[in-house]
Amino acid sequence: MTPPPRDILVTSALPYANGPIHIGHLVEYIQTDIWVRFQRLSGANCTYLCASDAHGTPIMLKARELGIPAEEMVERYRQEHLRDFKRFQIEFDHYHSTHSPENRELVEEIHARLLERDLVEWREIDQAYDAEAKMFLPDRFIRGTCPVCATADQYGDSCEACGATYSPADLKDPRSVLSGSTPVRRASRHLFFRLGRLEASLREWIAGGRLDISVARKLEEWFAAGLRDWDISRDEPYFGFAIPGSPGKYFYVWLDAPVGYLASHASLIAKRGGTRADLDRYWGSDSSAEVYHFIGKDIAYFHTLFWPALLEGAGFRKPSAVYVHGFLTVNGQKMSKSRGTFIPAATWLEHLPPDFLRYYYACKLAPGTEDIDLNLGDFVARGNSDLVGKYVNIASRCAGFIERQFEGRLAAGPGNQALLQEFADASERIAAAYEARDYARAMRDVMKLADRANQYIDEKKPWALAKDPTRAADVQAVCTDGINLFRLLSLYLKPVLPALVAKAEIFLNAGPLTWSAAATVLLGTRIGRYEPLITRIEQAAVDRMVEASRPAPPA
Ligand code: 2FM
Ligand code: ZN
Repeated sequence: MTPPPRDILVTSALPYANGPIHIGHLVEYIQTDIWVRFQRLSGANCTYLCASDAHGTPIMLKARELGIPAEEMVERYRQEHLRDFKRFQIEFDHYHSTHSPENRELVEEIHARLLERDLVEWREIDQAYDAEAKMFLPDRFIRGTCPVCATADQYGDSCEACGATYSPADLKDPRSVLSGSTPVRRASRHLFFRLGRLEASLREWIAGGRLDISVARKLEEWFAAGLRDWDISRDEPYFGFAIPGSPGKYFYVWLDAPVGYLASHASLIAKRGGTRADLDRYWGSDSSAEVYHFIGKDIAYFHTLFWPALLEGAGFRKPSAVYVHGFLTVNGQKMSKSRGTFIPAATWLEHLPPDFLRYYYACKLAPGTEDIDLNLGDFVARGNSDLVGKYVNIASRCAGFIERQFEGRLAAGPGNQALLQEFADASERIAAAYEARDYARAMRDVMKLADRANQYIDEKKPWALAKDPTRAADVQAVCTDGINLFRLLSLYLKPVLPALVAKAEIFLNAGPLTWSAAATVLLGTRIGRYEPLITRIEQAAVDRMVEASRPAPPA
């Protein structure tokens, strides 16, 4: 008996709705999208969720600066992000907002459960306050001289010059970024989540092998340092959800942001006519569904400590795993506006097609938290050589003969059964690599097979055979093999290149490919007309894109 399909829920981090999506973001969304597409092709019932991260001080201030309500700004960015994702073939089942009724309800429910279980308490603390701007200041809104190396104009929580981290109270000569005034200390009541009380269950969860070894080691350090209670409230003015029964107090954005995963799911379920029971089937403490969060290493603390603790505290299940990726570098360096490598998704698309970036990232992505480098020279060479020169070339070398000499009909039997089998056998290996998020390994395997297919065509030389009318059957057999090899490579590349492979599927004229197609061969059927599937990219387009990403010189 075939086992029932896996129920899988997948999320990418919720992008802040106060700036454009850029190529750094895209690493994660492309990584997640590939995994989701692979799961679906192999028959899983896989749901991909995301949302705009709508709350917090930076969003409130940016909306003020623009002179529009925060709700309006969030909605504008939400639409813009969705558009950019779509153009990069990143397809969510649902894209919600943390500023939504579903999220408010879930946040209040979680808060109520934490209260019931005595996992939160109010405490008075001192914080930096800007008396001119009349608001408490997040660490990032205070700048001053580093207490360690004395470099001027550093953030309130860390120094960019020496890397030290500290408390804003230690900063020398502190200034509010908002008004320039010197912050004063001021007392305020805050709501604390007693993280330490959940340490045992967090340790047990981590021991379940849900995290990359480097992330698990980092967690060990945090445990060793002692889990501190987490401040989950903020004072007004704040753009967020008001804490019920506590006027002037709001839930901190990092509390309601991950709850946004549930809210997005709840909203999708409602859209499909489902009920709360459908949500609990995934998120209840006894759920057998799988839940995976894809995130960057900068927010591992929130997702591997706070989030599972919150879920546990509120009686929900914890994630099956959290998949943490590294940062993007471009040409070996941090993305930089002045170097023109801080490239917005929309700018990319004005100059280059999305498929090449999806493919390049796939070639670089492996399961660990290593940073990945987009080398723009290598990017052009690799895309052209692999996609145009190897993969698509197989179809373009064979299609013409089938079309002209056999009215588009493939041979009734295979020419080289052993070679076709070799390609079919690769399906399990490649599936294992996708499942393990080792796309780099999958792509190496696929391109090795593509080399093998081209080598076969080189050896058989259908163009030479075609000159001899007695060898027509051989021409048809060799080209039928070529088309079938191309078909399997298309399947193996489909999670990475869905739009390109959709065109290949039209050409192959045998319906959408799924993972089980690896065990079959196309024989005796008619293929469609071959149209060039993809064209080469030029270094000049990359150069123009980099130029366009540099800030305009001051007028
Ligand atoms: O770091 C960020 O960009 C956050 N907006 C990610 C939030 S992920 C989740 F917790 F909502
Ligand atoms: Zn310093």
